[in-house]
Amino acid sequence: MAEKIIILGSEGQVGTDLAAKLRSEYGDSNVLCTDIKHADSSKTDLGPYQELNVMDRNALKDVFSKHKPTMVYHLAAMLSATAEQFPRKGWDLNMEGMFSVFDACLDHDVKRVFWPSSIAVFGPTTPKENTPQHCVMDPNTIYGISKLAGERFCDYYFNRYGLDVRSIRYPGLIGWKALPGGGTTDYAVDIFHKALQDNKYTCFLKSDTSLPMMYMDDAIKGTIDITEAPAEEIKIRSSYNISGVSFDPETLANAIEKEMPGFTIDYDIDHRQKIADSWPSSINDDEAHSDWNWKPEFDLEAMVKEMLTRLSQ
Ligand SMILES: NC(=O)c1ccc[n+]([C@@H]2O[C@H](COP(=O)([O-])OP(=O)(O)OC[C@H]3O[C@@H](n4cnc5c(N)ncnc54)[C@H](O)[C@@H]3O)[C@@H](O)[C@H]2O)c1
Repeated sequence: MAEKIIILGSEGQVGTDLAAKLRSEYGDSNVLCTDIKHADSSKTDLGPYQELNVMDRNALKDVFSKHKPTMVYHLAAMLSATAEQFPRKGWDLNMEGMFSVFDACLDHDVKRVFWPSSIAVFGPTTPKENTPQHCVMDPNTIYGISKLAGERFCDYYFNRYGLDVRSIRYPGLIGWKALPGGGTTDYAVDIFHKALQDNKYTCFLKSDTSLPMMYMDDAIKGTIDITEAPAEEIKIRSSYNISGVSFDPETLANAIEKEMPGFTIDYDIDHRQKIADSWPSSINDDEAHSDWNWKPEFDLEAMVKEMLTRLSQ
């Protein structure tokens, strides 16, 4: 039977790239994109699109009954920096949205559902370097708390109800197709846009704040690989660590300067520094590698070249 896929929250940074890749793999008509955003021609021209709020259980039921998805990618969430401004709203969207989607999946016999977690599940007393899969997790942001609770519910829905949830802990994601949606690692996308516009960038994190990051193509590959892997390979039912490249703003700026001589960076630190300080600087992903063969393709140099080339086109 052909796969029928629904993406929830398809118009964000991840959804834009994921939708394009899934549509090329499964065919436009088999991938329904949905988001709370209005269905204008910029969305409907690319393939089937429906306006849908994941908090609206009746609307979800209607869409699932009509389209009978075999796979669901649930991406709608409030990200770290925005959720710190609206903690209660962030918690409600991230938790209630997840429950309504998971319940709709159970009610409609959806084969598999993907729900992303984040490196924000770690906290100040987590080992910072080469952070292992299993360790102290004491997030102190509302986003991290909601993602850690979400991970526990992924495991719970799998063990209690047999829902086949797949999940990875995305690091900061860097892509050229869409702008980021209010996260702490957004600087690593903004810097490329400003480099091409002004040949300089003012960064809101300190020069030596090293964080785990990943080029979007790798994130999409990991997302599709884990969702398509045979169920018996998925041994961790909360969420997998995955690692791409780790760097700090100064290292990224130096890599850009190599491609764009004269590029300069300066610093104007804001509230996001505190969030970044509570996160790991690099991630150990041995389990993802051995369980479902995860392997990233982009290092820092390849990512910088690709971002500058794509954005200047
Ligand atoms: N981008 C990153 O660096 C990153 C890192 C770690 C984890 N993640 C996770 O990946 C997922 C996708 O992130 P993203 O970067 O694409 O986020 P984004 O903010 O760019 O996109 C989220 C999308 O969800 C939509 N949305 C918001 N509320 C909705 C609702 N009630 N119903 C339906 N749609 C709604 C928004 O309109 C938006 O298009 C999220 O779960 C996020 O926590 C992202």
